[in-house]
Amino acid sequence: MSVRRLATRKLGTAALVIATGITAAFALTTQLDKASAQMNEVAGAVISDTNETSIPEGFRKWVFIGAPLTPNGLNDGAAGFPEFHHVYIEPGAFAEYLRTGEFPEGTTIVKELVLLKEGHHEDGSRNEASGRGFYADSFAGIDMMVKDTARFAETDGWGFFNFGHHAPPYAETAAAAPAEACAGCHTAAATYDMVFTEFYPILERP
Ligand code: HEC
Repeated sequence: MSVRRLATRKLGTAALVIATGITAAFALTTQLDKASAQMNEVAGAVISDTNETSIPEGFRKWVFIGAPLTPNGLNDGAAGFPEFHHVYIEPGAFAEYLRTGEFPEGTTIVKELVLLKEGHHEDGSRNEASGRGFYADSFAGIDMMVKDTARFAETDGWGFFNFGHHAPPYAETAAAAPAEACAGCHTAAATYDMVFTEFYPILERP
């Protein structure tokens, strides 16, 4: 075979390989588009017929959305919810929130209270290598909210649960709290669908 014919054949093969590559890439993109448009499975807390539930296993491996801080030292020594609030959302619900902009049915959000290390100053702050500030010490309680618009219609679509504001072990089960204990304040003050989304940049709304 002449050098020229060989070169032409090689070019032809190269063109075929590129064309196949482009087709495959296109097919993959279409598949990915379809996948990202699909609903994500929402897991989280399971509520009984009597509106009781337990703390979902492994919630500390969920998506950590933020940590509001209400130090006792800035709240007359007794914050309502002392002190760091470590907030987690179940990953399936988080993915749906990102996809649709809404909290899907079944969304579970856990807020774990965490006490500060002893302060060096009256406000509870202390000095560490990184500067004067507030530093987490130990777990001290669990609050949780679960979206079920039909079941919890009376508390604006979310059930609220308190597993104790104390060191672990936490209560094994909790019954849905009455509106005046939890939901009332969220209804009055929360930004979006009962959740204080403005305190969690990761839940940023358009
Ligand atoms: C007086 C008002 C008030 C009451 C009562 C209240 N909350 Fe909240 N809650 C807040 C605020 C404000 C935040 C966000 C900032 C923070 O954590 O300090 C919050 C955050 C939460 C979060 C994290 C998600 C979010 O919306 O930011 C959960 C879960 C939660 N509360 C559950 C409960 C439960 C359970 C109760 C009842 C035991 C309760 N709350 C009572 C004001 C309240």
